[in-house]
Amino acid sequence: MPNDRHILLLPGSLRAGSTNETVLRTAAALAATTPGLRATYYAGLAELPHFNPDDDLDPLPGPVTALREAIEAADALLICTPEYAGTLPGSFKNLLDWTVGGTEISDKPTAWINAAGPGRGHGAEATLRTVLGYTGAAVLEEACAKIPLDRAAVGPDGLVADPLVRERIGEVLATLAGR
Ligand SMILES: Cc1cc2nc3c(=O)[nH]c(=O)nc-3n(C[C@H](O)[C@H](O)[C@H](O)COP(=O)(O)O)c2cc1C
Repeated sequence: MPNDRHILLLPGSLRAGSTNETVLRTAAALAATTPGLRATYYAGLAELPHFNPDDDLDPLPGPVTALREAIEAADALLICTPEYAGTLPGSFKNLLDWTVGGTEISDKPTAWINAAGPGRGHGAEATLRTVLGYTGAAVLEEACAKIPLDRAAVGPDGLVADPLVRERIGEVLATLAGR
């Protein structure tokens, strides 16, 4: 529907069976059954070239154009990324680097879900906050959440089955969408 709030879901993991992907796929499924909400899962992380300022000009590499168009088309961004070695995975930092030279992400309401276990993932969150500051995204602190995902909470369909965890993901979507 044209008036739906549209959230772009940005995963930070390339791993098959990723818990962060599970959270975002669940968010997509929840949005699909929520009136006034629409969510699109960004599946292009592996296709992005390594960031090179020499390539950050027209014509942009196709996957970069697709990324920037997806960000432009969204009302808000929801990130779910693991922590690697105390910071963001290189592939996801690479994605964020590709946004810096464009204006699409400027002032875009943005939140993240930290799905790491208790006491973990703080380095990724801290780096996200820093890097998003450079991109110009508008971090919506009240929508950011720590929702540890235990594998036992995942159902046979590969989505989060635990009703409390699903509810918390739904709350993040609602806050981010302003609904
Ligand atoms: C190379 C590597 C480095 C990691 N470093 C950290 C770390 O510094 N802190 C942390 O909390 N977890 C760390 N982890 C654990 C991952 O963040 C964790 O397994 C996460 O659930 C992976 O996300 P995914 O299931 O979406 O792939 C690391 C994992 C790998 C493979």
